Amino acid sequence: MTYLPADMYQHQLPEAYFEASEEELARRIQQAKAELGQRVVVLGHHYQRDEIIRWADFTGDSYKLSKLANSRPEAEFIVFCGVHFMAETADILSDPPRAVILPDLSAGCSMADMAEIQQVEDAWTLLTARYGPEIVPITYINSAASLKAFVGQHGGLVCTSSNAASALAWALERGKRVLFFPDQHLGRNTGVKLGIPLTKMANYNQYRGELLGDDAALADPTLILWQGHCSVHQKFTPAQVERVRAEMPGVKVIVHPECSHDVVRLADIAGSTELISKTIAEAPAGSQWAVGTEINLVSRLARQYTDKTVVSLSGANVCPCSTMYRISPQHLCWVLENLVAGQVVNQVRVDNETRHWAKVALDRMLSVPANV
Ligand code: 13P
Ligand code: SF4
Repeated sequence: MTYLPADMYQHQLPEAYFEASEEELARRIQQAKAELGQRVVVLGHHYQRDEIIRWADFTGDSYKLSKLANSRPEAEFIVFCGVHFMAETADILSDPPRAVILPDLSAGCSMADMAEIQQVEDAWTLLTARYGPEIVPITYINSAASLKAFVGQHGGLVCTSSNAASALAWALERGKRVLFFPDQHLGRNTGVKLGIPLTKMANYNQYRGELLGDDAALADPTLILWQGHCSVHQKFTPAQVERVRAEMPGVKVIVHPECSHDVVRLADIAGSTELISKTIAEAPAGSQWAVGTEINLVSRLARQYTDKTVVSLSGANVCPCSTMYRISPQHLCWVLENLVAGQVVNQVRVDNETRHWAKVALDRMLSVPANV
């Protein structure tokens, strides 16, 4: 069958998809997947809701899903149930190239949107003029492909929450300082993990084009932290850690490193969504866990491991990722049925020049070990 080229904007779904019952959508998704067989692989990030995760051939964190982009070389299509930067990464890494489809193109990441290429170029001009050329850039994988290309071109690499410590060590072997964007919290938490004192960390405000920090940090910073954050993880607080420890004696607190350093230093464990999932899966029956990450994952772990107690660190004040939630059974059904009909919709494609340098940075990311 000849496939029509994808158009790169989000279509309005036909009303019939919203009128279909849950059961009907599930039946149609199953049928479309069966018809496509090995030609399609469905990847699901841990924050996806259960109605989506049940259709994923593979699930994982950003690092694992990057590797899984090549899990089925025979597949012509990768349907990525996650957010935009993850689909872009799969497009760059898929070899041989395949059509990567994001069921809803408006599923972005508000943290990734906190760093734009012009802001990064302005920061680079300012920082290299002030500190000289010995700066290595690292971008968290939660960023646009253009930023990944920038770090590839400037001797840096991409990191994920799974391998941030190895990536930072890699960069500091090659330069005196690191510019880390867009997540200040992952940058700070990773710096502390490697023994870099907070007094050697400066901040960069991308909106004002301004370096911030005390005199000692500004004089000779090892780490320069972009002022981006995840609004989901920034809601976790030290007071919540103290409360849960008082209410549940013996509880273990496990959080994602996108939480602030004040929260991470009080937690027992900090790590990626894969590490959180694995740790709870392997924990002894009867153990208690307060988890500081997105609520869909926490609720799934609580349902899966009924022999353990798993609660959200934020209690009733739940923290969903609204963009991850945009991937709905309606959208999944629609993209799969279009593939069956010979139409690729919602393809995410990175242009060739950006792809080249972004791949350099992503290959470096895959060359340093994950911490899980
Ligand atoms: P992980 O790579 O740990 O899954 O994190 C991705 C993410 O967006 C967390 O907010
Ligand atoms: Fe982005 Fe935060 Fe959502 Fe992760 S949880 S995808 S960092 S907005």
